[in-house]
Amino acid sequence: METKFAVMDEKNIDMEAIGQAGKILKDGGLVAFPTETVYGLGGDALNKQSSKKIYAAKGRPSDNPLIVHIAELEKLTPIVEKIPEQAKVLAEKFWPGPLTMVLKKSEAVPFETTGGLETVAVRMPNHPVALALIKAAGGYVAAPSANTSGKPSPTLARFVQEDMDGRIDMILDGGQVGIGLESTIVDLTEEEPMILRPGYITKEMLEEALGVPVASDRTMMNADCKEPPKAPGMKYRHYAPKGDLTIITGEEKKVVEKINSLTKAMQEKGEKVGVIGTDDTVGNYHADSVKSAGNRKEEETIAKELYRILREFDEEEVTVIYSEGFDENGIGQAIMNRLLKAAGHHVEQV
Ligand code: TXA
Ligand code: MG
Repeated sequence: METKFAVMDEKNIDMEAIGQAGKILKDGGLVAFPTETVYGLGGDALNKQSSKKIYAAKGRPSDNPLIVHIAELEKLTPIVEKIPEQAKVLAEKFWPGPLTMVLKKSEAVPFETTGGLETVAVRMPNHPVALALIKAAGGYVAAPSANTSGKPSPTLARFVQEDMDGRIDMILDGGQVGIGLESTIVDLTEEEPMILRPGYITKEMLEEALGVPVASDRTMMNADCKEPPKAPGMKYRHYAPKGDLTIITGEEKKVVEKINSLTKAMQEKGEKVGVIGTDDTVGNYHADSVKSAGNRKEEETIAKELYRILREFDEEEVTVIYSEGFDENGIGQAIMNRLLKAAGHHVEQV
């Protein structure tokens, strides 16, 4: 299959390309598109054949449900059993935006889309290209991140192309995404709201909006937890670069020393070493490839660059990676959640 490619600026949307992409989706094809979090791999959420194609293109296990993307609030009613009060509050406050809500599904949503579950995850993305595409496609676009299963989510169209060229009908290139980590997922089907995947919208923000405590899935930051995570996708070794990643935490000076001595030892063994530092520290490392994730005081910058860096290390065929650790406040929790998964929870404290 030849994959069409359309470049557009979010301030100047190419409506002709959007029309073409919308038709592809309506006809059961697949289109990758930018959202504010990461690129999504879209198919018609109400067409079970489309969902099957998404799993095949990603090489994703079919028990791992897809998020249904909508562009207008009215479109929520037909796909859920009912809209709980809390969902109304969160939609009002955070949509369009990086928040996914898990709700009880209606019969309109095929089990192929929900991985066999009676619930459906729904999100209204805050990106003009995504919103225009969803409308052009009839209102319901199922979209996982547009990467091959197990690889870091794409934050640039070039990474989508690497994984999906020849496997899908079209890619919409809207430049680098703004947030860089997948949406926060909150489950509203039980008594107490529960975060299943941390993201830009934090527990504190949800608690403030709802006025009640919000729980977190215990498996989120903890490698030893025996229970399976409630978001089926979180059980897979996700976001993994090809190189073997270790996180080194502790006081800055000691971290730099430790990473430099580990780097030297690995290079002597013939490994190609990559280091993830921050703006203040990158000058102090001696590795084959040293990259700054951004400014430690502005964790948004780190969220935005993390997956790009992991992907670039893959391109450079780095075999061993060391990363500094990050504070778990605000979006830092999402950063560390993804980094810990990418590292298979391999952390060394100095
Ligand atoms: O930011 C995002 O959410 C991106 C963009 C494209 O919107 N999408 C994304 O989708 O990250 P994906 O498929 O890569 O991750 C969806 C996660 C998986 O861990 C999946 O198991 C979980 O959401 N999920 C989906 N439906 C669910 C449900 N009904 N109950 C629990 N977890 C669900
Ligand atoms: Mg994903």
